[in-house]
Amino acid sequence: MCGIIGILGADPAAPRLVQALKLLEYRGYDSAGVATLENGAISRRRAAGKLVNLERELAEAPLAGISGIGHTRWATHGAPTTANAHPHATDKVAIVHNGIIENFRALREELIRAGHRFTSETDSEVIAHLITDYLDKGQKPEQAAISAVRRLEGAFGIAVLFAGDEDILVGARKGSPLAVGLGDGEMFLGSDAIAVSPFTQRVMFLEEGDIAVLSRAKVKVLDASGQLAERQVHIFAGGAAAAEKGNHRHFMQKEIYEQPETTGRTITRYVNAYEERVEMPNLDGVDLNSDSAIIIGCGTAHYAGRVAEYWLEQVSGIAVETDIASEFRYRKPAVGKKSFGVFVSQSGETADTLAALRYCKENGLKTLAVVNVPESTIWREADARLPTLAGPEIGVASTKAFTAQLSALAALSIAVGRARGTLSSQEEGRLVHALMETPRLITDALACEPEIEVIAQELAQARDVLYLGRGVHYPIALEGALKLKEISYIHAEGYAAGELKHGPIALIDEHTPVVVVAPHDALFEKTLSNMQEVNARGGKLIVITDGAGAVACADIAKHIIMVPTCDPFIAPLVYSVPIQLLAYLTAVHKGTDVDQPRNLAKSVTVE
Ligand code: AGP
Repeated sequence: MCGIIGILGADPAAPRLVQALKLLEYRGYDSAGVATLENGAISRRRAAGKLVNLERELAEAPLAGISGIGHTRWATHGAPTTANAHPHATDKVAIVHNGIIENFRALREELIRAGHRFTSETDSEVIAHLITDYLDKGQKPEQAAISAVRRLEGAFGIAVLFAGDEDILVGARKGSPLAVGLGDGEMFLGSDAIAVSPFTQRVMFLEEGDIAVLSRAKVKVLDASGQLAERQVHIFAGGAAAAEKGNHRHFMQKEIYEQPETTGRTITRYVNAYEERVEMPNLDGVDLNSDSAIIIGCGTAHYAGRVAEYWLEQVSGIAVETDIASEFRYRKPAVGKKSFGVFVSQSGETADTLAALRYCKENGLKTLAVVNVPESTIWREADARLPTLAGPEIGVASTKAFTAQLSALAALSIAVGRARGTLSSQEEGRLVHALMETPRLITDALACEPEIEVIAQELAQARDVLYLGRGVHYPIALEGALKLKEISYIHAEGYAAGELKHGPIALIDEHTPVVVVAPHDALFEKTLSNMQEVNARGGKLIVITDGAGAVACADIAKHIIMVPTCDPFIAPLVYSVPIQLLAYLTAVHKGTDVDQPRNLAKSVTVE
C-alpha cells in the first residue's frame, strides 16, 4: 500500500517527511516524493526506486519550508516512474493519494475539456486538477477540497497542500486509513500511527468518509454527512512499535481492515484501469492458451484456488483440477501436457505446496506461483509468478492474503479467457470494471462489524457451527468454517448447501448455528430451500446476503448480515469480509489468542 505523510511543523519539513517515509517503507513501494511550500510556492522532489534516490535528489537540490507532504508509491495506474510519482501538483495544490479513483477517466476527460493539462498516467493526478478547478471557480481551499472529494468514487486516502497557505492541510479517508498526529503547535497527517510516531504520541484515527482540516493549532473533522465530528485521541507512548497495530486490538483486525488497500493494489497491478483490460506480466513460458489447469494449495490458499476453479471454468472454459497439496503430491496424478499448474501460497514456504510444485516441474508442467512473500522458495522455484501485494501478514489466520490471492486469480481467469478467445473485449471490460469496484465494496462491507458483534456474542456459546454455500461461495463457506475453528477453537464445518440433505441435516437442531453465504444470485433460490429445511428443524440461520436476499429470507433468518449488492464475479471477495469479521469477533469473545492461535504456525514448512 502507498504511504502518506503531511506536516504543518515548526522545523524544516523535508528531512522530517523523509524520516516518516522510512517508517512507511514496510508497506512496499517503487517510487517516492515530497513537496513543501517555499515562500508559499509548491516545490517538489520525486524519484523512482528507493528512498535513497529521493534523498540524493534532496541533497543536490534541498527543499526549504516547514509545511509539506510526502508519499511512497506502489505503482498501480502507470509505471513506477518519476513522472508518475507523487506528490502530483498544479501551481495551486499538491496532493498525495493511496487507493483507487474508480471514476478517474470521466473526471480526467472533463478536466481536459476545461483546459487542464495532465503530466502523468495516474488516476491520482485528477485530484490535484479537480481541487484546482474549484479554486479557479472561487472556492476557498477547505471548500475546494471538500467539493472535489465528494466527486471521487472508489477507496482512497489523500492529503492536500495549498500554495500560498502555510497553515492548512486537508486529509480525506474513504477506504484507506489516515491518522492525525497532534503536536505542540504542530500538526501531522499519516497513513497510520507509525508515520507520525517520530513527532507525537497523540494520534486521532479518521473514520470512513471523514475529511480533516488541519492547522497548527487545531484539527476540524467533518464526518461522511458533512457534520462536525469528535474523534478519540489515542496515546502511543512506545513509538513505532507501539503504533504498529494502530487503533486495532489485533494484527488480524488491522489486516482485515487493510483489505480495501491490499486488494486495490493487487488488482491494479494486473489490469489497465484506463482501458479496462487485464495486463499480465511476462509469464516465462506459462501458456495461458491451455486446455486445462491444476490449482494447488493448503488451507486458506487452497480455498482461494477453489474459488478460481469456478472463475476459470465460467470465464475461460478450460478444465480445472484443484487439490490440497498434501494429497496431490502423493497421488502421482497424470499432468496434461497442454496444461499449467498454479500454486497458491501466502508464505511461499509451505512444504506440501512446494513438493507439489516440484512434482509438476519434474513432470514437465509449467508452474505459476500466486505468492505473497517475495523471493520465498515457491516464488523462486516456480517458472512464473503473480505476486499478491498484501504486504506482510502477521496474523496467523490469513485474511488480506486470501483476498489478495482472489484478486490475482480473478485477473488470471480473465487473462486465460482472453488468451483462449472465450471472452470478448466487452466482457473483459465488464469484469475488469467489476474488479476495480472491489476496494470500495469491501470498504462498505466492513461497515457490518457492529451487526456481527452482536451475532458473535451468541456464536461464542456454540459448540458446533455449520457453514453453507453454493457455487463459487461453497469455498467461501469452507474458508469461513476454517477461520472460525482456527481462532475460536469452536468446531465448524463448511458444506456445499446442496449436500445438506445427504447427511449434515442430521446435525440441525436449536443448538447448532448455520451460517449461510448466499448473495441473491442465480443459485439463491436453491439455497433458500436449504435455509427453509434448516428452519423447519429449529436451526438458527445466520444469513450473509445482499438487499434482495435479505427480503427473501427475512421470515426465517435469525440474523442477517447485509453486504452491498455487487457483481457476482467479485462477490467472493466482498463476502470474505463478513466471514472474517464473524470469526474474529467470536474469537475475541472467547478470549483466545487471536493473532497466535494455539497449535498453529504462520507457515507450515514441514509435512
Ligand atoms: C490460514 O488461515 C491458515 N493459517 C492456513 O490454512 C494457511 O492458509 C495454510 O497453512 C497455507 O499457508 P500458505 O498460504 O503460506 O501456503
